[in-house]
Amino acid sequence: MENKNTFKVDENLKHIAFIMDGNGRWAKARGMERPEGHKEGVKVFERVANTCFDFGLEAVTFYAFSTENWKRPPAEIKTIMGLLSMYLDKCGDSLIKREVRFRVIGDKAGLDKSLRNKIEKLENESKQFGKTLNVAINYGGRDEIVYACKKLVNEGKEINKENLSLALYTEDCVEPDMIIRTAGERRLSNFLLWQSSYSELYFTDVLWPDFTDEDLILAINDFYSRRRRYGGL
Ligand code: FPP
Repeated sequence: MENKNTFKVDENLKHIAFIMDGNGRWAKARGMERPEGHKEGVKVFERVANTCFDFGLEAVTFYAFSTENWKRPPAEIKTIMGLLSMYLDKCGDSLIKREVRFRVIGDKAGLDKSLRNKIEKLENESKQFGKTLNVAINYGGRDEIVYACKKLVNEGKEINKENLSLALYTEDCVEPDMIIRTAGERRLSNFLLWQSSYSELYFTDVLWPDFTDEDLILAINDFYSRRRRYGGL
């Protein structure tokens, strides 16, 4: 196993997106309530995001809350939104120091106003930076495509692939080279449907709160063992 302090990716791997699954099972296995799993999950999110930038990635995206997650118990929803709010308070300055652009992808209009204000403040303060941290909140891949189409129509622009890509929540962000999903399920669950056309998919049984930097290196090495043909030979 490579040394995680010196490990680097090359120009073939610019963006990794994560489906952070398994927080609930992690908590249940320890006799805890589900929100405790999310509290552990946010620590892992913070570490993995930093590790990705240390490894030299340009962009990382994390699926934190889908448009379908509103069906969960109110206490669990409150915990996830509260964790995001605390993360913004705690880590906003360090993202700026690391020259990372922060962006929420998803329908921000559906979020609490004070959380939305915090998000938009950090988005504005960090928008000049080249590295990107996307957090998907109130996000649905199908909703995103509909949103982009409506945006183009309202702006009187032609609907073509280039314009549509730029009208998505991810705007000009490079598309994910790899999507990693933890906790054993093997599906995309409405995540980055447009942007994942040529993403390599990596599934691991490790639950998100147990996901280590070594697990990340295993996934990256697996990515490098694949041949991306983009429909060619
Ligand atoms: C899936 O696990 C996880 C989520 C729906 C929420 C992910 C949220 C976090 C990691 C914490 C908040 C992060 C930020 C950035 C604010 P699950 O609950 O579906 O787990 P299960 O499949 O084991 O039930």
